[in-house]
Amino acid sequence: RKAELTRTVEEFEAAFWPDEQPVDNAVVMTMGALHDGHAALIRAARRQVGRDGRVAVTVFVNPLQFGAGEDLDRYPRTLDADLALAEEAGADVVFAPTAEEVYPNGEPQVRLAAGPMGAGFEGASRPGHFDGVLTVVAKLLHITDPDFAFFGEKDAQQLALVRRMVADLDFDVEIVGVPTVREEDGLALSSRNRYLSEDERKQALALSRALFAGRDAGAEGATAVREAATAALAGADGITLDYLALIDPDTFTEAPDDFRGEAVLAVAAKVGSTRLIDNVGIIVR
Ligand code: PAJ
Repeated sequence: RKAELTRTVEEFEAAFWPDEQPVDNAVVMTMGALHDGHAALIRAARRQVGRDGRVAVTVFVNPLQFGAGEDLDRYPRTLDADLALAEEAGADVVFAPTAEEVYPNGEPQVRLAAGPMGAGFEGASRPGHFDGVLTVVAKLLHITDPDFAFFGEKDAQQLALVRRMVADLDFDVEIVGVPTVREEDGLALSSRNRYLSEDERKQALALSRALFAGRDAGAEGATAVREAATAALAGADGITLDYLALIDPDTFTEAPDDFRGEAVLAVAAKVGSTRLIDNVGIIVR
């Protein structure tokens, strides 16, 4: 079936809510430059709501979540290809609003605050990032009003914060997490991968390699996980490490050395001038 491109809230609502049919619906929020990781979310959304349900994909590069000196201006914009990919993966409607449509009064005065779970890791390296993410996610949840919203585990801290926002502020939506889609060699798919040169693309593999090495040490405890991942990154060419951390997913703080149970091993690094993040879930014993 065709996916309908909508640019205004009014157009979106007419397309996504064509009548009062009580069908399930789902939304996948993106910043565009869609790849197979996004497609996995859209396919999961389609599976969730069934053939008769409705799936919307939002495409919006949210200025609020970019810091000064980040890649807002050069973030890839590929709307025609995004529409085709979204349609192929099973979307009914693509909502690609302008910044003026989303923020008609200019920068919002009232915003969400991510709080302690947004303070570490990505939040520490990108001050205000998660406040901007949650503010736009809240707005897009209000505009789209879905039964289900799908987010990737690739952005583990973002997923945890969205779940926490929904719980803390009583949003009437079910948040569904989708496993990270990787290239065959382990590199996590990312819209930012297209910034990488051929050499950098190879150097970037050290990140997922370190995560897998850490995961393989899970049975030996938290310290062994950290050591294995650190050792795998040591001597990797072209990588400027931001953080490599074993994280308690309930609080998004560093897991103590005696931590046991489900943890997230996460890495952030620059490869050349491109900042990449990745993580894996680990059982620590
Ligand atoms: P974006 O980076 O475009 O990602 C959109 C969604 O796709 C997120 O839920 C992200 O976790 C998921 N995703 C990205 N790469 C993935 C991969 N390799 N495997 C599985 N899922 C993947 O995240 C954002 O946009 C924005 O912050 C947004 C939530 C849209 C708010 O602006």
